[in-house]
Amino acid sequence: QVRKKEASILCIGLDNSGKSTIINRLKPANARIEDVVPTVGFNVETFSTGKLFVTAYDMSGQGRYRNLWERYYKNCDAVVFVVDSTDKLRMAVAKEELSQLLNHREMKRKKNLPVLFFANKCDLRQSCSAVKCAQLLALDRGEWTRGGSPVHKTASAGPGRPWHICESNALTGEGLQEGIQWLTDQLM
Ligand code: GTP
Repeated sequence: QVRKKEASILCIGLDNSGKSTIINRLKPANARIEDVVPTVGFNVETFSTGKLFVTAYDMSGQGRYRNLWERYYKNCDAVVFVVDSTDKLRMAVAKEELSQLLNHREMKRKKNLPVLFFANKCDLRQSCSAVKCAQLLALDRGEWTRGGSPVHKTASAGPGRPWHICESNALTGEGLQEGIQWLTDQLM
C-alpha cells in the first residue's frame, strides 16, 4: 500500500458555521461523535481520507478565541474556511476575518497555500449558493484570482492563491468529498 501523505489542515471560520460537524463527518463512521458541541479553544483530530493522513486543527470560531488561529498559520499545509451560507448578516464579519488571515505575515510568506471554502448548511432554504458566497467574500478580487472567477468556484491557474468553494451539508456529508478531493490535488 502506498504511504499516505501527511497534511496539517487548519479549520477556521465563525462560530456556528459547522467546522466541528464537518470534521466529525470526515472521520470514519465508528469514530464519529453523536453530539457536536461548540468548541472551546480548539481540538486536534486525526483521520485519513483518500491519499491523505490529516491532522486537523479545529479552531473555535467564537470571538474570544479567534486570536488563537494565527498560532497555527505557520505550520499548516492548507486552510479550510467554513462559512454558514445562511448567515448573510455575519458574512461581512467572515470576510473581515478572512482578510486578517490573508494579511498575516505568515500567510503572506505562503502565497501558494491553498484555501478551501465550504459554503455550509446548503440544505437550509435560506442558504446562499457557493457562487453568491464567493462574491460576498470577495473571492473575485485581490490576491485570490487574477483571471479566475467566482462563477467557476475555483481559481484558474495563475499567480493568485489557489482556492475552491463547495456547497456542503455537514450533516449528511454532501459536498465534503468534492472539497477534500480538490485539497488533495493541491497537496500532492
Ligand atoms: P464553534 O465551535 O462555535 O466555532 O462552531 P462550529 O463552526 O464548529 O459549528 P458546529 O460544527 O458546532 O455546528 C454548529 C451548529 O450547526 C450545530 O447545531 C450543527 O448541527 C449545525 N450544522 C452544522 N453543519 C450543518 C449543515 O450543513 N446543515 C445544517 N442544517 N446544520 C448544520
